[in-house]
Amino acid sequence: MFTKIGVVGFGQMGGGITQVAAQSGFPVTTMEVSDELIAKGIGFITKLLDRAIEKGKLDQAAKEKTLGNITGTTDLKDLAECDIVIEAVTEDMVAKKEIFSELERICKPETIFASNTSSLPISDLAAATKRPDKFLGLHFFNPVPVMKLVEVVRTIDTSDAAFDAAFEFAKSLGKSPVKAKDTPGFIANVLLVPYLLDAIRQYEHGLASREDIDDAMKLGCGHPMGPLTLTDFIGLDTILYIADIMFEEFKDSHYAAPPLLRRMVNAGYLGKKSRRGFYDYTA
Ligand SMILES: NC(=O)c1ccc[n+]([C@@H]2O[C@H](COP(=O)([O-])OP(=O)(O)OC[C@H]3O[C@@H](n4cnc5c(N)ncnc54)[C@H](O)[C@@H]3O)[C@@H](O)[C@H]2O)c1
Repeated sequence: MFTKIGVVGFGQMGGGITQVAAQSGFPVTTMEVSDELIAKGIGFITKLLDRAIEKGKLDQAAKEKTLGNITGTTDLKDLAECDIVIEAVTEDMVAKKEIFSELERICKPETIFASNTSSLPISDLAAATKRPDKFLGLHFFNPVPVMKLVEVVRTIDTSDAAFDAAFEFAKSLGKSPVKAKDTPGFIANVLLVPYLLDAIRQYEHGLASREDIDDAMKLGCGHPMGPLTLTDFIGLDTILYIADIMFEEFKDSHYAAPPLLRRMVNAGYLGKKSRRGFYDYTA
């Protein structure tokens, strides 16, 4: 069983993984590129914990215990003693590989490496290290504290011991893990991403308003959130990265990013995190 957890990236996903691990009693060290982003990440978790206290779901002592389990750092070396390191930085193969090759030098030989990538081949990331047997995907869903699913992804090299340890770890976080293979999009995104891209195409072609597209899927199909709201929530940049990677892999027009998505990302419309996407969140 793991005693020390490392996370790389204190964004939406890294922050969520940090929170859930800390709430489950694990000491977590999370690395980010700047002190400002660490403060922002810890501030966001504090806000969520305060909200849980207001709702009577948490007490002050549990909040302090959770926050006490979290250490932020800008130095990857502080992850040296971790039993598992979960990488959750921007969906960029070069950046992720650089991090893993540095972690390979820093971490003890038995440390398990996991990536939260949505679409990059896990075996390509593993190739940046000398421990492909201790490398796997740990794909959490957004928002991490709420969503129960974790896809635990094994490559042809992942050992049973590493896979089982990661699977049990996901369970110890209160999640319901599923076993997935190292294919782009794993299980859920292969189905979800073409659906989101089709909704963007529908909007781009003027077939319906954004509100009507979202309402149609909420009211007609029972989805908790419409596809354009969901894309804002996930991040337009993240969806674009995933679409490009899946298109590159499958060469199937289902996965081709609509021009509107690319234009919006280039113009800084990243969704909720940049306060504007298909909807405006500035208020
Ligand atoms: N957003 C989602 O719904 C979702 C769901 C599942 C998986 N993912 C995956 O999780 C990963 C992160 O996505 P996100 O939504 O949290 O993105 P995000 O943009 O919210 O956060 C990424 C963070 O990584 C940091 N970062 C970049 N380079 C770094 C480096 N070298 N060292 C340390 N930190 C670095 C950035 O500063 C940023 O804070 C991606 O691989 C994405 O595909 C995202």
